[in-house]
Amino acid sequence: MTATRTPARHFAPLAIGAPEPYRALPVRLERMIHFVPPHNAKILAKLGDMIAKVDVILGNLEDAIPAGDKEAARQGFIKMAREYDYGQTGLWTRINCLNSPWGLDDILEVVPAAGNKLDVIMLPKVEGPWDIHYLDQLLAQLEAKHKIDKPILIHAILETAEGVKNVEAIAAASPRMHGMSLGPADLAASRGMKTTRVGGGHPDYAVLADPGSDANAPRAAYQQDLWHYTVGKMVDACLSYGLKPFYGPFGDFADLAACESQFRNAFLQGCLGAWSLHPTQIDIAKRVFSPDEKEVAFAKRILDAMPDGTGAVMIDGKMQDDATWKQAKVIVDLAKLVASKDPEKAAAYGL
Ligand code: GLV
Ligand code: MG
Repeated sequence: MTATRTPARHFAPLAIGAPEPYRALPVRLERMIHFVPPHNAKILAKLGDMIAKVDVILGNLEDAIPAGDKEAARQGFIKMAREYDYGQTGLWTRINCLNSPWGLDDILEVVPAAGNKLDVIMLPKVEGPWDIHYLDQLLAQLEAKHKIDKPILIHAILETAEGVKNVEAIAAASPRMHGMSLGPADLAASRGMKTTRVGGGHPDYAVLADPGSDANAPRAAYQQDLWHYTVGKMVDACLSYGLKPFYGPFGDFADLAACESQFRNAFLQGCLGAWSLHPTQIDIAKRVFSPDEKEVAFAKRILDAMPDGTGAVMIDGKMQDDATWKQAKVIVDLAKLVASKDPEKAAAYGL
């Protein structure tokens, strides 16, 4: 059996003077994690507008930042953390991975300079609980040393075969865990999948319909979802430990319909948000990860019809019981959270 801390020790700070770990995650709306390259001065100049538009801003220090710009990106992130007020919008960074030449300095420079404004560190290429334990301990020491008053959370990217194998142990590794995102590009490479796309389907990953009476007639092929298994596995690991699951990047910025479909599949499977790498993806994520108005109206009818959540009733010919009451509550609770940030949605939901 693997040794784990006792429940009491699990929730004890890992350094004297570090803030108490959360027992439950703060309630935040995180429909999109919007990536910005912090070494780009033009983007930073327009950050005020972006902060008002999105649920989370993430300063990216890892992949997509050229090696020669890594330090500028790190300093740019510190500047953007200091210069702007983020209000209800989350401030995250994606650091370089732990075995890279930059990961340690990302942590050692960003946390002292911006730790009091930083909500979440996204840790890429997590392979097992040991990666989380390392960052957890180091963050506790830095929080204590630099008098950071609330714990900085860790969000793991699930993007290696070994990480997927260890996903439950990663979820269980620390009360500092916020959630996980599926990273389809690195995961495809790590697994030896034969796709060069960043997320989405593939025309060759399909099921062929049976032949009809005419053996020469063309047969329909139905594309399948390459990511279904991993998203399902991640959602189960996250939800069983009270963490939040997310879909990650969608690389084809021109194909808005395919992006929407990928996001929607993730939403229906349990994910709470996705990454936006391009401004057009912000609106898609807002639309997809805010519950549908008709679903909210129907869910409210279920809750109203079963005030104590027990028994069975019929609504429009459909059976409702304790389980559908819980499904309805998931949708209405999310709608309330969306309504608290978005007056248009509040009116549409009648909340
Ligand atoms: C994201 O980081 C990915 O590799 O897909
Ligand atoms: Mg990646």
